[in-house]
Amino acid sequence: MNKLEYIETFINPDNDYLNELQKQNDTRKDIQPSVGLHTGKMLGLLIRLMEAKRVLEFGTCIGYSAVWLGEALKSTGGKLITVEFDKDIYSEAKENIEKAGLNSVVDLIHGDASEVMNELEGKFDMILQDSAKTLYPQMIEKCIELTRKNGLIIADDTLFKPMGIPEKFSAPMDEYNRMVFSDERLYSTILPIGDGATISIKLCD
Ligand SMILES: C[S@@+](CC[C@H](N)C(=O)[O-])C[C@H]1O[C@@H](n2cnc3c(N)ncnc32)[C@H](O)[C@@H]1O
Repeated sequence: MNKLEYIETFINPDNDYLNELQKQNDTRKDIQPSVGLHTGKMLGLLIRLMEAKRVLEFGTCIGYSAVWLGEALKSTGGKLITVEFDKDIYSEAKENIEKAGLNSVVDLIHGDASEVMNELEGKFDMILQDSAKTLYPQMIEKCIELTRKNGLIIADDTLFKPMGIPEKFSAPMDEYNRMVFSDERLYSTILPIGDGATISIKLCD
């Protein structure tokens, strides 16, 4: 048993419907990979730690990470806004959020994250960036603006470069990491879970 498998013997999904979504993520070729079990659990832990009330996600897909986030926010009395670009995938996510019993916690928006973000008001406790990889560097400035002091910006898939993922996808991830690590408004690290999660705390108002 390797380290990851060992950890997996302890982690039970917070919502029963996550097993079904995980099965779909493992078998379907028509959807992009989810954040996975380890990152899902970490998101649930961070939301509880921060007692987060307002969380924003870019890139819902069929709703796996949204269910982890939503389930955690149910326990803190918070709400999730999550944005998905693809109309069919958005419809599936809507159904899945309902099946997971999280309709009252999750507000699912159909649209382009880079446009929707400009219509959002107020500050968020946490932003999860998991939409189109090329958008990460383009969207970071607005993400910083939308995050409260001591809030978190979490970006998934940020270890694409050392994983040898094609340049088209890994170059923006590398650029994103360089941007957040050199930004004095942020305090960042990268956790080697899933395909890499870059976590940045916003230090200023
Ligand atoms: C990696 S998947 C998200 C996985 C999901 N966060 C999870 O862990 O279950 C990326 C998703 O982002 C969506 N996407 C791509 N570009 C987008 C955009 N500009 N705005 C919103 N969603 C976008 C894709 O359609 C895809 O479903």
